[in-house]
Amino acid sequence: MKKKEIQKIYKKKIKLIKKFNEFYYNKSKPAVTDEEYDNLKKEILLLEEKYNFLDLIESPSKIVGHKPSKNFKKDFHRVPMLSLANAFTEEDLINFEKKILNFLSKDKNYTIFYSAEPKIDGISASLTYKSGEFVKGLSRGDGKEGEDITANLLTLTDIPKKIHSKDFPEEIDIRGEVFIQNSDFEKLKEKFANPRNAASGSLRQKNPEDTKKIPLKFIAYTFGFEKGLKINSQFDYLTELNKWGFKTNPLNKLISGVSNLIENYNFVEKQRSNLDFDIDGIVYKVNDFILQKRLGNVANAPRWAVAHKFSSNKATSKITDIEIQLGRTGALTPVAKIKPVNIGGVLVSNATLHNEDEIIRKDIRIGDTVTVERAGDVIPHILSVDLKKRSKKSSKFIFPKTCPSCGSKTIKEFNKLTKKNDAVRRCSSEGYKCDKISIEKLKHFVSKEAFNIDGFGKKIVENFWKLKLIKYPQDIFNLDFSKIENLDGWGKLSVQNLKYSIEQKKTISLEKFIYSLGIRHIGLENAKLLSKHFISFSEFKNLSKQTNYEDLLNIDGIGETQVSSIKSFLSNEANIKVLNELEKVLLIKDAIQNSDDGLLNNKTFLVTGKLNGISRAEVKSLIEENSGKTISSVSKKLNFLIIGEKPTRKKVEYAKQLKIKIIDQAEFLKMLNKTS
Ligand code: IVH
Repeated sequence: MKKKEIQKIYKKKIKLIKKFNEFYYNKSKPAVTDEEYDNLKKEILLLEEKYNFLDLIESPSKIVGHKPSKNFKKDFHRVPMLSLANAFTEEDLINFEKKILNFLSKDKNYTIFYSAEPKIDGISASLTYKSGEFVKGLSRGDGKEGEDITANLLTLTDIPKKIHSKDFPEEIDIRGEVFIQNSDFEKLKEKFANPRNAASGSLRQKNPEDTKKIPLKFIAYTFGFEKGLKINSQFDYLTELNKWGFKTNPLNKLISGVSNLIENYNFVEKQRSNLDFDIDGIVYKVNDFILQKRLGNVANAPRWAVAHKFSSNKATSKITDIEIQLGRTGALTPVAKIKPVNIGGVLVSNATLHNEDEIIRKDIRIGDTVTVERAGDVIPHILSVDLKKRSKKSSKFIFPKTCPSCGSKTIKEFNKLTKKNDAVRRCSSEGYKCDKISIEKLKHFVSKEAFNIDGFGKKIVENFWKLKLIKYPQDIFNLDFSKIENLDGWGKLSVQNLKYSIEQKKTISLEKFIYSLGIRHIGLENAKLLSKHFISFSEFKNLSKQTNYEDLLNIDGIGETQVSSIKSFLSNEANIKVLNELEKVLLIKDAIQNSDDGLLNNKTFLVTGKLNGISRAEVKSLIEENSGKTISSVSKKLNFLIIGEKPTRKKVEYAKQLKIKIIDQAEFLKMLNKTS
C-alpha cells in the first residue's frame, strides 16, 4: 500500500474514534460496544507501530483522555519537567561536584560556576509563549503530561501576557513556581493546611474568577522547549527573564566552590524566617549551558542540578508501638508509632526505623523517649534515644523471625559485594504467595512511574484486594465492573472513568512494563537498559527459557546483583503465569531502537584505560546518541576496543587474539567527525 493510502485509512480511524469518544464521554451514550471500541483502538495502535510516520496528536496513544481529568484537560510537555536530586550535607555537595567533574573528565581544580537559587515551595508551571504571546499554561503533572490551567494562570498579574522585547525567543516554555505569600496565606489559614496547599488549591479552581480572588505570585527560573533563545548560561537567562518582565528570586546568586555554596546556604537559611514566602532549600545549577548539555539527565533528574535542602526540624516524643511493614520486595521495615508531635508545621505520628540492624544499633524500644527528625519531604526518623528516661521494666525489641503476613521464615541475605549479611530482613516467600507482598506489588504496578492508572491509587488496590476483585496484576485488566458499580462510594460515572483509565493504559512501553513488574534491583534506569537490550516483550520473556543469563552482564550498567534478581524472578512459575496473562490483555510496545541512522550504527564499543578530557559516562552517551552500543567485556561481539592511558593489559591481549579493532581516543572521535 502507498504511504498516502495508509495515511488516509489511519486518519479515518482516528476520526471515528474521536466520534466514539465524544458519544461516550460528552454525551454519556456509547455509540458502539466496548469490544468494537477496543478493536478500533488496537487497529490504530498497530498501524502506528508498523508505520512510524503515523502520529496524529489525537491518536489514543497520545491523548490520555478525551475526558478532562476532574476539571482540566491534559496536555503533553514538549520537553519533560524533571525533578531534582536532593543533597542534605556538605558531603553530599562534595560528591555532587565530584560526579560532575568526573563525568566531564575535569581535574579537581577546575572551577564550576553554579546558579544558586532559593527553592520556593510552591507549584511549578510551564508557560508557552509564541511570538511573544502567552498561549498556554500547564501544571507539572507527572512531568510528561500536565493539566491545562491556562485560564487560571491568566489571572496572575506576575505572568506577562504579551512580551515585546526584540530578543524574546520566537517560541519558549518559561517555567517557574506559582506560590502564595505568607502574609496572604494568613487570611486563608482556615481553608488550607499550608501555603503550598493554598497555592495548589486556588490554581485548580474550576472557575478562574475564584483563582483571581487569591493573590498568587509567579517566579520564573528555567525553560522547557525553546526556539530562538540566544543565551549561554543560567544566570544570564535569569537576567533576561527580568528584562522580559518576569519576576525572579532576588536572592539568586552566581557562586563557585562548595565552601562558598555552604556560606550562601547558611546566609539564606538565616533569612528564611524573614522572607514572605516558604523556601525549603537552595537549588544549584551548573551555570554553563554547554556543560549542562554534556551532563544530561539520569532517570528523571538532571545531572547538572541538585536541591540542597534546609536542615530538618526536630522534636521529642514517645514510642507507643513498633509496627512491622512489609514492602513489595519482602523487606520488613520497622516503623515507630509515636505520640503525635508537631514538627515544623506537620503533625508526625510515625517514624521509620529503617531495618533490624538500626533497631539493634540504637537499641530502640517501645516506651522510649526519642528525638525525631523530619527533613524536607523525607519520612521522619529517630535520631536518638533518651536513655535517662527509659523505664526499668522496658525490654529489647525482638524482630520477628517469621513473616507477619504469611508466616514464612524471614531471612537476611548474604551480600556478595560487601561480603556481609544484609541489614534488611526479608520474607522468604516468592511470587504471589504472601498476601501483603502481593498487595504492595499491585500498588507498585499501578503507581505513577509504572502503569500510572488514573484514579487507581493505593487505597483502591487495598479495597479491591479485600473484596477479592484483584490478586494478580492481570486482574486489573479483567475487572468485573458490574460488581464495582454496586460498591459503596462508586457510581456509574466513576466506574466509567475507571474503566476508561484502565483502558488507556493497556498500551505500554516495554521499559515501563519491565519496571512495573517490581523485580528487585530493577528500577527505572535498569528497566530502560533491559528494554533497550531486549527490544520486544517476547525476547524478554524468552529469557526464562534459557539457563544462561550471563549475556545480560554485557549490558553496561547491569551487574550480577541485577542478573541474579532477574533470574530468580523468571524462574518463578507464578511470575511467568503473570507475564503470560498480561501478554493477553496488553499491547506492549517494542523499545524504540536508538535511531539506526547514526554514525556508529550496529557497532559495539568497550573502553579500557583513562581517556583525556572525556569521561567513560560521556563516551557511553556519545556512542548511544550515535546509534552505537557499549558492552562491558571483550568478546566476539565487540567491534572496537577504545584504549586510553594505562589500559587493562588482559583486555588488549584478548582483543588482539579475537582480531578486534583497537583504536585510541582520537580515532574514536574521528569516527564521530569530531576532533576533540
Ligand atoms: S529547576 C531540571 N529551579 O523544585 C530542573 N526548580 O524538585 C528542575 N523549584 O518541580 C527545576 N525553585 O517546583 C528549579 N529555582 C528553581 C526552583 C525549582 C523551586 C521546584 C520546582 C521543581 C522542584 C524540583
